[in-house]
Amino acid sequence: AQPPVITIDGPGGSGKGTITQMLAQRLGWHLLDSGAIYRLTALAAVRQGVALDDESGLVRVASGLDVAFEPTPPGQPARVLLAGEDVTSEIRTEVCGNNASRVAVLQPVRDALLQRQRDFRKAPGLVADGRDMGTVVFPDAPFKIFLTASPEERARRRFNQLKEAGVDVKIDALLEEIRARDERDMNRSAAPLKPADDAQVIDSTGLSIEEVLDRCMAVVGQA
Ligand code: C5P
Repeated sequence: AQPPVITIDGPGGSGKGTITQMLAQRLGWHLLDSGAIYRLTALAAVRQGVALDDESGLVRVASGLDVAFEPTPPGQPARVLLAGEDVTSEIRTEVCGNNASRVAVLQPVRDALLQRQRDFRKAPGLVADGRDMGTVVFPDAPFKIFLTASPEERARRRFNQLKEAGVDVKIDALLEEIRARDERDMNRSAAPLKPADDAQVIDSTGLSIEEVLDRCMAVVGQA
């Protein structure tokens, strides 16, 4: 039998990343940050001078992507290496996120990244964070969670994160970007963002991280 997978899908800023890390740590399972793979594809394309609407060029970039995720102390995001270079913070910018969502609309690019994502499924289990983990990449996953929060709450969280990092932004501009990215992710024809039929939907608006984690653990039960 295949190792078990917990899929955590949902829009950006819903708390997926944090919850995925905490679940993986608590269970001692592997982790897949699939958004990072789309971000790395976009970053590699920009660096190689491949336009973000050049489908065959992007497929070439996606197929040849040389990435590594290096473990860090518990509670910290993994170090992300592109061809050996540390790009952990570079892939987290709003620009890179937007570029990622542009390359992610292209079905051939998604196809080129599919097996790479499935290869993360190893014993004793995997917690997979993304948009289509439960619908496309691991449709047979025994545990599926769809984590959402209102756009206003997600903009507030992002604003606080950036403020702590010393970045000066306007909350209204963040809200606009969040709405635009949701729109693109939900309305594309290739693997649109939506809960799998058998996913448990958890709305994290107004909940603490601990409360969300408890609800996720309840879904996973005795995994
Ligand atoms: O989750 P993150 O913000 O890192 O994802 C960046 C972009 O990559 C998303 O806006 C989405 O367009 C795309 N993505 C995707 N499928 C995934 C993960 C991310 O299309 N499984």
